[in-house]
Amino acid sequence: MNPRRKFLHTLAGASLSMPLINKIKFNITNPIITKDGSVPIILCSRGESWGRKTLTPAWTKYQVSKSILDAIEAGANVTELDPEDMSVGYGGLPNENGVVQLDASVMYGPTHNCGSVAGLENIKTPCSVARLVMERTDHMMLQGAGALQFAKDHGFVEENLLTEQSRLRWLRWKENLSDQDDRFPPRDGQYKPRKRPTGTINVLGIDENGNIAGITTTSGLFGKIPGRVGDSPIIGAGLYVDNEVGAAGATGRGEEVIRTCGSFLVVEKMRDGMHPQEACEYACKRIIQINGGKEKVDFNDKFVAVNKKGEVGCASIIGNENQKPNLAYWNKEGFHVYAGTYQIEVDRN
Ligand code: GLY
Repeated sequence: MNPRRKFLHTLAGASLSMPLINKIKFNITNPIITKDGSVPIILCSRGESWGRKTLTPAWTKYQVSKSILDAIEAGANVTELDPEDMSVGYGGLPNENGVVQLDASVMYGPTHNCGSVAGLENIKTPCSVARLVMERTDHMMLQGAGALQFAKDHGFVEENLLTEQSRLRWLRWKENLSDQDDRFPPRDGQYKPRKRPTGTINVLGIDENGNIAGITTTSGLFGKIPGRVGDSPIIGAGLYVDNEVGAAGATGRGEEVIRTCGSFLVVEKMRDGMHPQEACEYACKRIIQINGGKEKVDFNDKFVAVNKKGEVGCASIIGNENQKPNLAYWNKEGFHVYAGTYQIEVDRN
């Protein structure tokens, strides 16, 4: 390894739709749910339905290849390629101009190496491009046109990422932005503007030798200013892996995760001895604190984490008893859904 590379290595290191909050209750007691862990384990930041879709191919890939990186990539690719998911990859929700721009990152514990892409257009599987940045370059992050050129250099084919469903959702949003511009929504009044969603998926895994890897992939904030980069491709924000400790990933409002180095914070709290559940809750509380308290928070973030033992944690800022944040994992005992905790209870309209 060349000295600069070595230096860099040393340094490195709900689907969450926005609800309309109409009622906030404070002082919720959130019991810490503990569960004995085991490895190997692969988890994702989704519940039953997307959890099964993502983890079934991931677990199968692991059984065949014994490569935890191949396994989590196979899982993340499923979500990226599925147009039914409007927050990741193909069919993701576009930016202000109607263009889908994808962010993704990957990190591998044994080498403490990582790679990411930001603002990648026309490529359905950005996490696979991020993996190539990690494995086939001396860089950590590529963005925009350079990331696209790099993907094409490696044989990726440009495709239109905007599905009809995503285009119509974007058009209605644009038409409802203001009553003082020249666009009108259809007269049927079907579309009800909501807070703009973000959605993302984290896929984390530990192999039978205790080696840890993680991926985060997203189309980012719906209607974002073109060029906006969220937390997902930023190592330490949307994803962090430390082979001695564990891994963490974030979904939700990326700006808050960036300014708290959220996933790095979760992993460092686990290093200090916190259970993954406590560490995820700690990061949520930190975001609430820097925003001036629970009364000031009208967005959501969610963290998932796994420690070296294969114990998991999951916490969000907002939620309710019917919509607890959750994650799904697969270990030698099979498929599980794990219900996490939230800090602020909200009712959804
Ligand atoms: N967490 C995804 C984003 O904010 O872009």
